[in-house]
Amino acid sequence: MSEQPSAVARYGHGSRIPGWDDAVDLGKDPATVPDPATTPVPAELRAEIEAAMAKYPDFRSATIPALHAAQAVHGWCSPEALEQVACVMRLTPGYVTAVATFYDMFETTPVGRQRVYVCTNISCSLRGGQEMLAAVKEAAGDDPDFNVRGFECLGACDIAPMASVNGEFVGPLELADAAQLIADLREGREVLPEKQLSRRPCADPAAKDTGHE
Ligand code: FES
Repeated sequence: MSEQPSAVARYGHGSRIPGWDDAVDLGKDPATVPDPATTPVPAELRAEIEAAMAKYPDFRSATIPALHAAQAVHGWCSPEALEQVACVMRLTPGYVTAVATFYDMFETTPVGRQRVYVCTNISCSLRGGQEMLAAVKEAAGDDPDFNVRGFECLGACDIAPMASVNGEFVGPLELADAAQLIADLREGREVLPEKQLSRRPCADPAAKDTGHE
């Protein structure tokens, strides 16, 4: 078996070391529900969070869509973003922080705007996912606009090795695609359109149209 690139921190048994086990700051003040009078929330973000809350019998089920909405506004789940979600949902920042730090798709440190998640789980690894991740990282270089990282199985193993590019699944990828992928993002073009999962013809003619040609 080939050696793992050193850039990906791993446990001895091979799993990636996630960020959610960062040490807790026990010196922090206990969290309270933010006061709406002193916590300004952009009107569109507030409306989106409230619409999500209305969809569930237990409004706390909307925490994940609310965090997605806040992350889209702020670029990451910053302390300010977490405060705003907590304020609208009438929860403590601690509650929403617990959700944000548990799920891998929420960024709790500042990151680049362009999200490229290269799958390095088993199916993709067997088909060169680690090498693909290294190639995409190299193509992006140190451009702070990019957030290139390895990811666990994205549920599209049939197009391994694959990546999620700003939410669009592309694959099967070849090493030569890395430069094109980054160039497409830099130029504001659609990324590898011929490799987008959502553009694949569906075997089931009764399946719902995705809206893509
Ligand atoms: S292992 Fe990569 S999508 Fe499942």
